[in-house]
Amino acid sequence: MIHGPNLDLLGQREPAVYGNTTLPELDAQLVALGDSLGVQVRAYQTNGEGAFIDLLHTARAARGVAGVIVNPAGYTHTSVAITDALRALDVPVVEVHLSNLYAREQFRHESLTGVACRGVIMGLGPDSYFLALRHLVASTSVEPA
Ligand code: DQA
Repeated sequence: MIHGPNLDLLGQREPAVYGNTTLPELDAQLVALGDSLGVQVRAYQTNGEGAFIDLLHTARAARGVAGVIVNPAGYTHTSVAITDALRALDVPVVEVHLSNLYAREQFRHESLTGVACRGVIMGLGPDSYFLALRHLVASTSVEPA
């Protein structure tokens, strides 16, 4: 799980849009769901575009990574470089958003990064993430390390 910029402020930032759940709470819920589904979830957050790409490269090189969930946040709408890094991954990627991008400003209606993902789940708050994890677990397999 890779969270993009400003998502470290989840729970404090625009709660009417993004809800009251904090990032540590969301990550704990993802880890718990992963445990119940028999997979290990590792969650990272960065505010940097380059750092986000480095995390994707790390996931690409790592053994035992069955899939990746990304919320590129503001970079969703701008980043050719993150899109290219997503394309370089051999494992399935699901993009998630807390908010419904289509119900917001015009500049959020396009997802550059979503083009490089298997699917995009948005507008369901934390459920966007949980559904993405359930999909990846149901549709992928990984050899024990
Ligand atoms: C977001 C939507 C983006 O447009 C915004 O820049 C974010 C969060 C979401 O999860 O709803 O930071 O990715």
